[in-house]
Amino acid sequence: MTSLITTSTTSQSAIVASRPLPAALCAIAGLGHYLPDRIITNDELAQTVDTSDQWIMERTGISGRRCAAPEEATSDMAHRAALEAMADAGVTAEDLDLILLATSTPDTPVPSTACYLQARLGCGGVPAMDIAAGCSGFGFALQMAAASVKSGLHRTVLVVGADTLTRITNYADRQSCILFGDGAGAAVVAPTGRFDVIYSSIGSDGSGTGMIRVRAGGSRTPASLDSVATAGHTLELHGREVFKAAVLRMSDCIRKAASAIGVRPGDFDLVIPHQANARIIEAVGRQLDVPPERLLSDIRETGNTAAASIPIALGRADRASPLAPGKLVCIVGFGAGLAWACQVLLVRDR
Ligand SMILES: CC(C)(COP(=O)(O)OP(=O)(O)OC[C@H]1O[C@@H](n2cnc3c(N)ncnc32)[C@H](O)[C@@H]1OP(=O)(O)O)[C@@H](O)C(=O)NCCC(=O)NCCS
Repeated sequence: MTSLITTSTTSQSAIVASRPLPAALCAIAGLGHYLPDRIITNDELAQTVDTSDQWIMERTGISGRRCAAPEEATSDMAHRAALEAMADAGVTAEDLDLILLATSTPDTPVPSTACYLQARLGCGGVPAMDIAAGCSGFGFALQMAAASVKSGLHRTVLVVGADTLTRITNYADRQSCILFGDGAGAAVVAPTGRFDVIYSSIGSDGSGTGMIRVRAGGSRTPASLDSVATAGHTLELHGREVFKAAVLRMSDCIRKAASAIGVRPGDFDLVIPHQANARIIEAVGRQLDVPPERLLSDIRETGNTAAASIPIALGRADRASPLAPGKLVCIVGFGAGLAWACQVLLVRDR
C-alpha cells in the first residue's frame, strides 16, 4: 500500500486547535458533479428480470439509478462535472496544468477519455490521461494529483471520476443490473482550497481480478460475434464475495487513516464510503462504531456510479448542508482490481 502521510504535527490553527493534524498534501479547491436526467426505476427493472422494488430496496437501498442519454458518453458527463468544479474553484481551463480522469467506461478504447475532455475544455497542450482503478478510481487520481501538487510538478489539477456503467450492464442479470447508474464527479486540486487533503492511501490486490470484471473486448478475448452473444462485454461480479471484501477493506482503510492522523474512526465528522450498496455502508459503520449520522449513504437516487460515486456523494452532501470549517471527512473507495483508496479531508473556510 502506498501512503502519502506527512509526518509534520503542526497544529492546523484555531480550526482544530485541540487536534494536531498532519500538514496538507494539497487541497480540493472546487467540486462539481453531473447526473443524467433519466431515472431507471426498480419497477422498470422488474419488468425485464425477476426482481421487485421491495427486494432491491431492502437488499441495496437503491430506488433509482440514472441513465445517460443515447448520445451522451463518459466525456460529456465529465465535461459537465468539470465545468462545475472549475467554477466552484474560480479557475478556468487556462489555469489547468494536468487532467486525470478515472473511468472504467471510456468513450473509446483509444484515445483516452481525458483527451476528449481536454479538447472539450479547449486547453490543448495540457497533459491528460485516464486512470483505471474501478470504483476507487477517483481516490487513485486524487492521490496522483496530491503527489503532483505536493512535489511542485503541477499546480492546478483537474481530477474527474466518470462512468457510464449502464453501457456495460447486463440487463438480463438480476444480481448486477439493479446496482449500476451513470454520473460524473470532479474536483480541482491545488496547493490551497476548501478541503485540505491531509492523508491519502491507495492499494490493490490483483488476486481478486476475477471478482468484478468485463470478460471480453480486450487483448485476451477480443470482440467477436461470440463475445457479444455471450454478454462478454458486460460487468460480471461475485456479489456476495465482493460485499464481504468491500466491508473488510473499507473498514481497514478507515481504521488506518484514523490511526495515522491520531483519531478514532468515530471521530470523523463524516465518513463517505463508495456508494455500492446501503448495506455495505451500514456494515462498515457497525464494524467501526461510526454512528449512522456520520456515515453518508447517498445511493438511493443514484445507484453505484463507480469512479464518480465519491465526488458525487461529497458534492451533494456539501451542497445540501455545507460542511463547516474544522470538520474531518474520510472518503474511502473500493472496487474492481481489487483496488481501494482512502483520503482524509479537513474542511477550511471558503
Ligand atoms: C449483489 C448484491 C446486491 C446481492 O445481495 P445479497 O444480499 O448479497 O444477495 P445474495 O447474493 O446472497 O442472494 C440472495 C438471493 O437473492 C437472489 N437475488 C439476487 N439478485 C436478486 C434480485 N435483483 N431480485 C431478487 N432476488 C435476487 C439470489 O439469486 C439469491 O437467491 P437464492 O437464495 O435462491 O440463491 C450484493 O451482494 C452486493 O451489493 N454485492 C456487491 C456488489 C458489487 O459487486 N458491486 C460492484 C463493485 S463495488
